[in-house]
Amino acid sequence: MNNKSLVSITDYSKEKIQSILEHAAAFEKNPNQDLLKGKVVATLFFEPSTRTRLSFETAINRLGGKVIGFSDASTTSSSKGETLKDTITMVSNYADLIVMRHPLDGAARYASEVSAIPIINAGDGANQHPTQTMLDLYSIKKTQGKLENLKIYFVGDLKYGRTVHSLLMAMSHFNPTFTFIAPDELKIPDQYKQFCNEKGIAYRELSELNDISDADILYMTRVQRERFLDLVEYEKVKNVYTLKNKMLENTKQNLRVLHPLPRVNEIDTDVDDNPKAYYFQQARNGVFARQAVICDALGLI
Ligand code: CP
Repeated sequence: MNNKSLVSITDYSKEKIQSILEHAAAFEKNPNQDLLKGKVVATLFFEPSTRTRLSFETAINRLGGKVIGFSDASTTSSSKGETLKDTITMVSNYADLIVMRHPLDGAARYASEVSAIPIINAGDGANQHPTQTMLDLYSIKKTQGKLENLKIYFVGDLKYGRTVHSLLMAMSHFNPTFTFIAPDELKIPDQYKQFCNEKGIAYRELSELNDISDADILYMTRVQRERFLDLVEYEKVKNVYTLKNKMLENTKQNLRVLHPLPRVNEIDTDVDDNPKAYYFQQARNGVFARQAVICDALGLI
């Protein structure tokens, strides 16, 4: 694997995470710099995206780099049967860095093993979304003033939600307490509970979204329709939780509602104007976090 790749959030040490967050803060103060002058970054999106692709491309543009790539794999030679290995090998000839989203778990790891240039994982199946985690951490630190000793509630699709999987692993450095709220069909997989057990992280599992009075972060997630093999099963759980403004009464002053977005029905629009709603600012933070991740992958910071 190219050692500058970011495939899993576990590729970053605690110190690296803290360093990237410091750089992200500096980029927020001064986002327009020429650090990527002469560099070409390829954004290869084999799955749909709004925020991740556009915030990466904004980050690259603001740093003076050039972007090549695609947002619809059906227009590429992968639709003619070209393998991922051949695609990555070819793009390695053109660019200095590859940002890739792919529907298959493990695709980013595989790409990093066959690539001559660093790979940044922009989401692989239900597995990992490490750059989302960096903007989530940045958002948590910005709103809470710290990352340590926080009570984090994860709500919704904890089975397929790759942002949950990455974030809980990253938070393991900071002594969190987790509450996992999901229906039986979408419970947090055993491997992540085992991870918590190994790291000594306290957690509990609930099936109802009722009492959130001690939460510092309420991390809502969308039920991931695209991961279901049987859409009848999706229909059963698609509206399982909807956060309403009234439910934020009697919550902590510092509580912030995060969501990686897109949302469907899981946050009522009446929450949007509540000062505790932070999901749109969270998405904005993605530009600065990704500027820091890109510069790290290219050895520029
Ligand atoms: N959070 C996130 O990954 O959003 P997109 O799917 O729009 O990139």
